[in-house]
Amino acid sequence: MSERWWESAVFYQVYPRSFQDSNGDGIGDLEGVRQRLDHLQWLGVDAIWLTPIMPSPDDDCGYDVSDYRDVHPELGTLDDLDRLLHDAEARGIRVLLDVVPNHTSDRHPWFRDPAREDWYVWTDRPNNWVSVFGGPAWDFDQQRGRYYLHQYLPSQPDLDWWNPAVRREFLEILRFWFDRGVAGFRIDTANRIIKDRELRDNPPVTPDMHPVAARLGQRPLYTTDRPEVHDIYREWRRLCQTYTPERALVGETWFFDLQRLAAYYGDDDELQLCFNFLLTHSAFQADVMRGVVESTELALPAFAWPCWALSNHDVSRFVTRWCGGDERRARVAMTMLLTLRGAPFLYQGDEIALTDQPVPPERKRDPLDLRMPGRGRGRDPERTPMPWAAGPGAGFTEPGVEPWLPIGSDWRSVADQRADPGSFLNFTRGLLAQRRANPDLRSGAYQTLESPPGVWRYQRGAGTVVTLDFERWEARIESSSAGAGTDS
Ligand code: GLC
Ligand code: CA
Repeated sequence: MSERWWESAVFYQVYPRSFQDSNGDGIGDLEGVRQRLDHLQWLGVDAIWLTPIMPSPDDDCGYDVSDYRDVHPELGTLDDLDRLLHDAEARGIRVLLDVVPNHTSDRHPWFRDPAREDWYVWTDRPNNWVSVFGGPAWDFDQQRGRYYLHQYLPSQPDLDWWNPAVRREFLEILRFWFDRGVAGFRIDTANRIIKDRELRDNPPVTPDMHPVAARLGQRPLYTTDRPEVHDIYREWRRLCQTYTPERALVGETWFFDLQRLAAYYGDDDELQLCFNFLLTHSAFQADVMRGVVESTELALPAFAWPCWALSNHDVSRFVTRWCGGDERRARVAMTMLLTLRGAPFLYQGDEIALTDQPVPPERKRDPLDLRMPGRGRGRDPERTPMPWAAGPGAGFTEPGVEPWLPIGSDWRSVADQRADPGSFLNFTRGLLAQRRANPDLRSGAYQTLESPPGVWRYQRGAGTVVTLDFERWEARIESSSAGAGTDS
């Protein structure tokens, strides 16, 4: 097995609350993930990333942690996790968790512990920083008579990463999970964790900013991507390197500037994978997509392995966002994801071309949506449960049980698609098999080939050519080195 295993792996993001409910309470859980390992193995993925499984009051669906060394009771126990790790390993599947180092829940005991007051960021005179979730980033704490920083919800106070005690604590937390056999971590909001020590005001938006980034109304100069963040990740990487196999770090690196993204790979001594959201947030057009990939290839240092995702739990599903529900377009997108150079991350449901499912106002759970209604669509539609089979409960939960989010009905279930050789699910599985069998696709260099407008052609390695036709919605992989090519 390769030492740099993350370079040959296909990853799959599991949103545990919506994957499989094993005990009929309508909430997916770790035992449910274990029971569905068959599906993941059959599909052919090498590693799964579980979004947060730690105890949490769920103000932000688990991204507000109240204990970094346990499992959320709704999701199971540490024993359940051990069983999952064990069974996953037996199938050659690695398990990554999600770590949230920027903030805790305000109900984490640290936040009220007088001995740990300096673990958080406090001020008497709030600056102009704004919360990603709307409004000022500072809230007044009656008890302490000072303002604390929260870049997300007021109930998600930011930790102070200038404090060496915080740094030591997180190294211990990583060690706790690595020792159990966890293969790595996706790092939540990785580029924001350390802030300007002098708490200087952020400058106004500049015209060169990506419109998505400009939504905040200011340039996050002093709240994101501070130079000191790299010291932290160098330490984390050194810890990863003390394990065999090496543990992997995947950054939620939210950048529209590829130079800054590239910096998180360090000198091959920081994160092994950094999500490239420029692609995820691009228009689904041949020249735009090609441009992102070409500039990524130029920006990343030679050792760095790119990292791509079409969907995740924070954005509208690609089949809705890019393809308007059209499966032919979705096949072009999936072919792209699984033939680009780099680590592909499938989001649960991507493999069956799942679309965003409607969530009526009274069933909404996303705090972002509840806090800023009208801002947009909220994040619930991409977090609805996996439809495993037709019928009540959809194989996700027991019939008659109300799942935590509605399952919707605009889908073809996993079981249904598995039985149909021409289905999207079998198409995706076929791509995964091709990728595994063809070293060009796994590790070959990327090179753009000439093509007519609306078509993107590229070569991987010595003998594999991929054609993505954004006009006729066709995708083709032709390989001279690894046997027959396939059409779709
Ligand atoms: C990340 C997570 C998102 C969460 C936020 C705050 O962006 O992916 O779901 O709301 O961080 O933790
Ligand atoms: Ca359950």
